Amino acid sequence: MPKIRWGVLGVAKIATEKVISAMSSGECSEVVAIASRDHHKAEAAAKALGLPKAYGSYRELLADPDIDAIYNPLPNHLHKEWTIAAAESGKHVLCEKPIGMSAAEAEEILAARDRTGVKIEEAFMVCSHPQWLKAVEICRSGRLGEVRSFMGYFSYFNDDPKNIRNLAETGGGGLMDIGCYLLMTSRMVFGEEPRRVMGLVERDPSSSVDVVTSMMLDFPSGQAIGTCSTRMVPYQSVTIFGTAGRLQVDIPFNAPDDRPCRLSIDDGRDVFGSGLETVELLTCDQYRIQGEAFSRAILDDTDVVYPLEKSVENMRWIEAIFRSAETGRWETAG
Ligand SMILES: NC(=O)c1ccc[n+]([C@@H]2O[C@H](COP(=O)([O-])OP(=O)(O)OC[C@H]3O[C@@H](n4cnc5c(N)ncnc54)[C@H](OP(=O)(O)O)[C@@H]3O)[C@@H](O)[C@H]2O)c1
Repeated sequence: MPKIRWGVLGVAKIATEKVISAMSSGECSEVVAIASRDHHKAEAAAKALGLPKAYGSYRELLADPDIDAIYNPLPNHLHKEWTIAAAESGKHVLCEKPIGMSAAEAEEILAARDRTGVKIEEAFMVCSHPQWLKAVEICRSGRLGEVRSFMGYFSYFNDDPKNIRNLAETGGGGLMDIGCYLLMTSRMVFGEEPRRVMGLVERDPSSSVDVVTSMMLDFPSGQAIGTCSTRMVPYQSVTIFGTAGRLQVDIPFNAPDDRPCRLSIDDGRDVFGSGLETVELLTCDQYRIQGEAFSRAILDDTDVVYPLEKSVENMRWIEAIFRSAETGRWETAG
């Protein structure tokens, strides 16, 4: 089977610890190069990960004619610049979330996709994970009755002042880093866009990045609430409530790759869980599935799983939540 040859921009933690090994094990993908601003760092990473090529600049990697696709896990403020540069070099791009610093940046990336004809996707790995495919299938099946409410939580503790998540200039903050998943999955569950949103934001006084952010989303067919925090106990869960049942996704975002994921479905016969059924999904690696799906879309020239148009919408809602926190009013996507 032909394989898509991937190059990676930057020796990022997510790339070296998760994504490169996952994509290297794919049936239609192989990682052939990594670039760093520091050639020694690129060499060391390539050696440790068994990659054939190392480059001392991102430009050199983009100029390599043997590379078909780029994985962009740079800090958020560099997503637009290097995704567009890669597209203009004729490379397909899987770019980490959030796709950019703003909806306007996301639109520029979309325009670059249409101008160059390459495929570009925001790396929302959750949307191709079997546990989410199953969760959405259950919601659509009527088993929960009418789906009316989504409740999500995502937090971890990180107060390292040098981390990109704690720097405003690199696009840090909880909503951009993890709240984007609550937005994305609630939109996926309802299968529609909110009419309006409210936001409540607490910022770090020295860095000004948001450290506790809550959102309330008014969908045509239901309501979603979510809280994300970068200064709280590590925790994540999503519960979806219908008129006749409740579905819980235990580990919705950092799905483990060494044990099965679990969905809990309660038919609501009482509040003691007598009607609780647990569905276990086969153990899988969501980064491998994501890389395979994107590589397959290139090989077959089909649509990517999460189109950029949806990424633009997600960025609009992120901005609306921040705006609402300032105005104290409901805001629309603008
Ligand atoms: N999908 C997921 O599950 C997931 C999980 C974690 C993170 N992410 C996303 O992945 C991206 C990277 O996150 P990470 O925690 O892996 O980042 P990280 O470890 O801080 O790495 C970012 C890399 O970007 C390069 N870089 C270029 N300019 C930089 C600058 N001004 N400041 C800092 N680094 C710079 C560096 O590589 P060189 O020095 O080698 O050039 C650095 O190693 C973010 O967009 C994040 O949202 C996604």
